[in-house]
Amino acid sequence: MQRRTRAGAPPRVYPPSVVAEGAALGSDVVVGAFCFVAGGAVVGRGTRIQSHTSVWDGVVLGEDVFVGPGAQFTNVRHPRAAFPRAPRWDRTVVEDGATIGAQATLVAPVRVGRCAMVGAGAVVTRDVPAHAVVAGSPARVTGWACECGETVARGERAPDDLRCPACRATA
Ligand SMILES: CC(C)(COP(=O)(O)OP(=O)(O)OC[C@H]1O[C@@H](n2cnc3c(N)ncnc32)[C@H](O)[C@@H]1OP(=O)(O)O)[C@@H](O)C(=O)NCCC(=O)NCCS
Ligand SMILES: [Zn+2]
Repeated sequence: MQRRTRAGAPPRVYPPSVVAEGAALGSDVVVGAFCFVAGGAVVGRGTRIQSHTSVWDGVVLGEDVFVGPGAQFTNVRHPRAAFPRAPRWDRTVVEDGATIGAQATLVAPVRVGRCAMVGAGAVVTRDVPAHAVVAGSPARVTGWACECGETVARGERAPDDLRCPACRATA
């Protein structure tokens, strides 16, 4: 498994996506079609946001984060139309190297740890430990992922070595 080399290119935003003024996008960021990135969002270098996702104020995506198509971020835990919470947003932080699966929902406030793997359709209501694989609604830890994304162990207990055989061989 080869890590992508960063070109240091300006962010690529596919139409008809909209990135609001004030949003902080790092180099080599890709924003797929039909996305909205709000003015207070932060998107780190090399992060890829697939189509049909909105990244709201209060959402901080680290570097090399993969956001699958149709993932849902939130920024108010107890929303009411008649009681606006702005600008006291509930925060979502996704740390470097983590993956958010297709159509997963992150219920803020929540933090997804480094290199964690959130399964497709998961509803994440609690912080996710680094390298954990979580799935289901509510999301629970089902295993552990290598930095490259391969599942290296099943169950709730983290293994001593979080690298897959291929990555271990090249370490
Ligand atoms: C969560 C995920 C990483 C697990 O992968 P894995 O470790 O290889 O796990 P497996 O496919 O072997 O599945 C293990 C078990 O978890 C279940 N499972 C897998 N993914 C699941 C999910 N997203 N939600 C609920 N259960 C899931 C499987 O049905 C299986 O259950 P079983 O043992 O009762 O049959 C993966 O299934 C996933 O959802 N990846 C995200 C894909 C995606 O959204 N890509 C977007 C870009 S294209
Ligand atoms: Zn690996």
